[in-house]
Amino acid sequence: MSERLEDIAAAMVADGKGLLAADESSGTIKKRFDVIGVESTADSRRDYREMMFRASEAMTKYISGVILYDETIHQKAADGTPLVDIIKASGAIPGIKVDAGAKPLAGFPGDTITEGLDGLRERLADYYKLGARFAKWRAVIDIDVSKGVPSATSIASNAHALARYAALCQEAGIVPIVEPEVLMDGAHDIDTCYEISKATLTKLYTELYAARVALEGTILKPNMVLAGKKSGKVSSPGEVAEKTIKLFRETVPAAIGGIAFLSGGQSDEEATANLNAINAIGPHPWKLTFSYGRALQAAPQKAWGGKAANVAAAQAAFAHRAHMNHLAALGQWQPTLEQAA
Ligand code: 13P
Repeated sequence: MSERLEDIAAAMVADGKGLLAADESSGTIKKRFDVIGVESTADSRRDYREMMFRASEAMTKYISGVILYDETIHQKAADGTPLVDIIKASGAIPGIKVDAGAKPLAGFPGDTITEGLDGLRERLADYYKLGARFAKWRAVIDIDVSKGVPSATSIASNAHALARYAALCQEAGIVPIVEPEVLMDGAHDIDTCYEISKATLTKLYTELYAARVALEGTILKPNMVLAGKKSGKVSSPGEVAEKTIKLFRETVPAAIGGIAFLSGGQSDEEATANLNAINAIGPHPWKLTFSYGRALQAAPQKAWGGKAANVAAAQAAFAHRAHMNHLAALGQWQPTLEQAA
């Protein structure tokens, strides 16, 4: 396929296809495995991810790319085939998480800054050789208005880091996924999420312009506009769609390669219903699809449970969620389709 950044970005958001975020750090995947009673070892992590990457129905029809963690991009399947080759054989593009995680921002209790810029040019060159054609960097913006979180300093520092990361990616021939995640964990209402997301995206695009990043060769990975979990309110798909699209029309240039949402702690069906509602009120200036971690993997993880005998059932569970999100990316999903599983 073409190596031009804008062509890679277009392939990542090709009609009805989306990204599988399988880039959990070793700490995060351990938490997921704890839930299903599986010990987290290099082999169990490999077996689990190999199960997904060999799920040919899901991978060939619905998945445009896979975000990997450093360990996984180096791993080989049980038969010795590099996992990257299995992904490529399905037609999907391998990608890589390159940030080093969100750390406390000095002087600003409750805020974080994502680290990982030092040495990034060299790491990107290595990942390119291993087959990665896109990368991910996640900034984390929490909301706790009573404590002054997020601060303007946190929003500005994270936007600046995202822009430096994006410029280095493009220099290396890699499409940057820029992910400024406004968390849905707080007690805030949906309009507060809208306001903080607006401040975050405004600053992000100011920094991307200043860093001379070519927007056509970038993908935005945003949160949806939602009420915080601790508010006790669940926003309806109609309200989420209306406020999310209003936000993007105000802040996100039409020139970017596309938009691929994170799921952020929404339930599987919520993440699908909201994406569907967003696309159903189109047409929009950008493609809007999924880049889900939890909302694609929770069902297959549960079905797998660490047992080789469950691989086919887990692959079927993955295919179902990927199919539902494929339909949502086209605005063609219906709640009744969920029962088919
Ligand atoms: P979730 O969909 O589980 O939020 O994960 C997506 C992701 O890659 C977060 O960085």
